[in-house]
Amino acid sequence: MCGIFAYLNYNVNRERRFVLEVLFNGLRRLEYRGYDSAGISIDASNSPSSPSLPPFVFRQEGNIESLVKSVYQEVATTDLNLEESFSVHAGIAHTRWATHGEPAPRNSHPQTSGSGNEFVVVHNGVVTNYEVLKETLLRHGFTFESETDTEVIPKLAKFVFDKANEEGDKTVTFSQVVLEVIRHLEGAYALIFKSRHYPNELIACKRGSPLLLGVKEYGEETSCGPSFHDVNFLKKDEQPKEFFLSSDANALVEHTKKVLVIEDGEVVHLKDGAVSILKFDHKGKHSGSLVRPASVQRALSFLDMEVEQINKGNYEHYMQKEIHEQPESLRTTMRGRLIRGGSCKAKTVLLGGLKDHLKTIRRSRRIVFIGCGTSYNAALAARPILEELSGIPVTMEIASDLLDRQGPIYREDTAVFVSQSGETADTLNALEYALENGALCVGITNTVGSAIARNTHCGVHINAGAEIGVASTKAYTSQIVVMAMLALAIGDDAISSQGRRETIIDGLCELPGKVREVLKLDQEMKDLAKLLIAEQSLLVFGRGYNYATALEGALKVKEVALMHSEGILAGEMKHGPLALVDENLPIVVIATRDACFSKQQSVIQQLHARKGRLIVMCSKGDSASVCVGGSCRVIEVPQVEDCLQPVINVVPLQLLAYHLTVLRGYNVDQPRNLAKSVTTQ
Ligand code: F6R
Repeated sequence: MCGIFAYLNYNVNRERRFVLEVLFNGLRRLEYRGYDSAGISIDASNSPSSPSLPPFVFRQEGNIESLVKSVYQEVATTDLNLEESFSVHAGIAHTRWATHGEPAPRNSHPQTSGSGNEFVVVHNGVVTNYEVLKETLLRHGFTFESETDTEVIPKLAKFVFDKANEEGDKTVTFSQVVLEVIRHLEGAYALIFKSRHYPNELIACKRGSPLLLGVKEYGEETSCGPSFHDVNFLKKDEQPKEFFLSSDANALVEHTKKVLVIEDGEVVHLKDGAVSILKFDHKGKHSGSLVRPASVQRALSFLDMEVEQINKGNYEHYMQKEIHEQPESLRTTMRGRLIRGGSCKAKTVLLGGLKDHLKTIRRSRRIVFIGCGTSYNAALAARPILEELSGIPVTMEIASDLLDRQGPIYREDTAVFVSQSGETADTLNALEYALENGALCVGITNTVGSAIARNTHCGVHINAGAEIGVASTKAYTSQIVVMAMLALAIGDDAISSQGRRETIIDGLCELPGKVREVLKLDQEMKDLAKLLIAEQSLLVFGRGYNYATALEGALKVKEVALMHSEGILAGEMKHGPLALVDENLPIVVIATRDACFSKQQSVIQQLHARKGRLIVMCSKGDSASVCVGGSCRVIEVPQVEDCLQPVINVVPLQLLAYHLTVLRGYNVDQPRNLAKSVTTQ
């Protein structure tokens, strides 16, 4: 949901062309966060005098490559010298997912304080009180050119700066201006400020939306080993270095692995090779004009990530790569967590992040799963095994719905927050709500250091590796596995279910191999996609463990192939959906072997009686038992333990969605109107 990026080199000579390319590459890495428009701001001159020439601002509708093209076109028609060298240069960049105002250059970021570009700002988040601020600024003679909420921010900065100067305060610092601005902002934001009045400086701050600082010392290789520094080492000095600010780690890892995860309420000031961090009251309780908050010390941490993880490798698309990576991502998810006795005789589960809280969880009155989209579906897939092994009632909440209803959450509840990004605004707001209500909050996320990971009492990282395709695939299967392990850990003290637990643990050990087997259906799914390419609609029927598979398969088809698709609980078929059935509408029925198998056989009979156009997913060797009269198409999948079957069954549907999208000519990694990390409500 918008990506922001900045680059500042200090005492390292860099040509303008280099600076542009660093900014463009940063945006390419963040493009999955939003791709309807983009922009950058770079310096006009390399003179250290203040105030310098107004910085250049380039903005363009469309994806990053449209921006790149337009910038180089503009450069070609002006006398802007790409070889001009800067020993210090502060550039900022933005890729947008529109919230306020259509995708258009005027609504793209950086947003500016007006002609002269005295203050330029990139923003991820939403300023909820922008209308009030806009009215005030209009009264003070400001004019607005965009429909964005962001435009009030640079204008407010100019207002604060001008006022301080009018009052004779010629020494007002960049951070004082920014602190005064954010004192007036409500909502969520990660912001980077650049100013003509403070050349060679950048300010970053955040509340709600994610932001990281990467630091590269001169001559340092990105592959260096772990090293943790107190931010004191970043005091003003002449040592050459480069700084990078980014919405996520993907845009940092190719430059450096030394990062600072900026926290809510921090203002990070980059100046003269130094980093200073000030803490502001992010609940907005300041008084007075220019606040002077305390400085804080923070440690840099080491990014445990490789550049290869965020490249497509030999695959054409990220979604394709991530589907095919699942045997490995599942292995990483389970690594060190299945306690083995002998070869692959794992008999118990160890989830380090939960071990001090398991007793409390076992005593809870209810477990509530909370998430959105695919993460919600993953929790739904894990619900039956959690109920079975824990004996605790498990309820499901879509995060936004819980908040809309202000549904009951109690002190005796364990609330489990499932989120790939760990930054989804709805899930985060639900977390805040559950914390206020006193529940024990558990996070299940793929992003170390994310807001959900930091703000929950305890949790488990799914360790699926970076997921770049907007449609979640490998995170889904890893989430299910983590929740199955959660069920095993909670039920670990029950003697009666020991045999069942051990069978599931053995099943987990075999799962990566079984997923490798089901991936061999790739060509078969491509052939099926060719048959379905021109369809308007697809239904997916599932029940029990695989109700979630039906929802998730349909969600994948809908979001990437842009084909209407609906996941339906098969038990509900007779209560409405049956009316849709005719000889034209394709229907996938999931009928792999489990306790619901005979019920699914009967569903197939009923659909067949209505001449339904059936595609049946069944366990290997079951074609004859599910395909009435031999008239349906069959997808045979390997059979695993019932509660793990959703991990297998979703894979052919992921492949189907992928191939349908490519064949229909749509962008599979950047589906229309969507973005990864939905950081706005
Ligand atoms: C669909 C998809 C979304 C996300 C949802 C929650 O493929 O990815 O439905 O699952 O936006 O995101 P996270 O898991 O990051 O909280």
